[in-house]
Amino acid sequence: MTLLCWIFEVVIVLGLLLIADVLTLQNVLLSIEPKVVPVGQSSTLICTYDLQDDALYTVKWYRGRYEFYRYTPSEYPNSKKIFPYKEINVDEEASNSTQVVLRNIDFVLSGNFTCEVTTDALHLTTRYDIKPMLVIQPPETAPTISVFGEPLDYGDLLRANCSSPPARPRASLTFFLNNYTVATSEPLLPHHYQRSEWSDLGLVIRLYAEHFDDGRLILRCVADIENVYHEEAVLKLGSAREPVPERVSAQNAGITSSLRAMLRLVVFLEIILLMSIL
Ligand SMILES: *[C@@H]1O[C@H](CO)[C@@H](O)[C@H](O)[C@H]1NC(C)=O
Ligand SMILES: *[C@@H]1O[C@H](CO)[C@@H](O)[C@H](O)[C@H]1NC(C)=O
Ligand SMILES: *[C@@H]1O[C@H](CO)[C@@H](O)[C@H](O)[C@H]1NC(C)=O
Ligand SMILES: *[C@@H]1O[C@H](CO)[C@@H](O)[C@H](O)[C@H]1NC(C)=O
Repeated sequence: MTLLCWIFEVVIVLGLLLIADVLTLQNVLLSIEPKVVPVGQSSTLICTYDLQDDALYTVKWYRGRYEFYRYTPSEYPNSKKIFPYKEINVDEEASNSTQVVLRNIDFVLSGNFTCEVTTDALHLTTRYDIKPMLVIQPPETAPTISVFGEPLDYGDLLRANCSSPPARPRASLTFFLNNYTVATSEPLLPHHYQRSEWSDLGLVIRLYAEHFDDGRLILRCVADIENVYHEEAVLKLGSAREPVPERVSAQNAGITSSLRAMLRLVVFLEIILLMSIL
């Protein structure tokens, strides 16, 4: 009998909790735009949430475990609270109950951000979402290509290097020969993201007829960082199969020399004619 009562009570309580759950705060969602930021730029962190029947008590913002911004409507007119932290520059004007704007973003901010929403009144509910931000330093100049062994013919070995100046994280490189991918740099491991490094990619490929596009060889090296940085170098390689205009100029030379010969002949005939008249 007591056991039955106890089970009944548990069911009731669980049911109430479930109902309470349905009627309170839901769908706390953090989005960071942009989430890959060049160093020194700005980013907006947007926290959306569905309060249901509840009232908002507070929204807290964290970088890692450090709270840097808090919005508490009940504390009006001091609803916005900024906790100073030397690398975090909150734009107070642009920040409110659903977003926080960060300016002049430092490298150390790469990592997880959290928005944590707490509701007031009947049920004190807290929910949060975590999203990462990546701060990058793009290379100062575009990539460069160096090539050996031109001009190139069928069966020749094409050797090339592509190099992109230091960046954080380093740029990933891809070689394209006549728009076909012929080499790609290895994917970057996450623990290398905090380092500034040169990128180098070597290419060694034996060339066959199918590599030539109507005799032409166009080599491209593309440098990318996380869809934020994109630069390329393009080089037209010396090709032994290129339709060069030598034949045309030889024909021109032929015409000129036969013209010259004809002129000489005319002069010669005129001299003979002149002599016979005399
Ligand atoms: C916060 O500011 C942004 C940009 O001005 C605006 O779109 C958004 O509606 C504001 N949020 C609230 C709750 O007022
Ligand atoms: C960031 O959060 C994700 C999941 O929320 C976690 O897997 C990851 O370890 C966190 N990264 C850091 C640097 O704390
Ligand atoms: C390409 O890079 C490799 C390794 O750094 C180097 O040994 C080689 O001489 C370079 N070749 C060219 C053509 O720059
Ligand atoms: C390579 O692609 C570019 C643009 O994607 C195009 O303009 C160019 O004609 C292509 N070249 C060859 C050789 O296919």
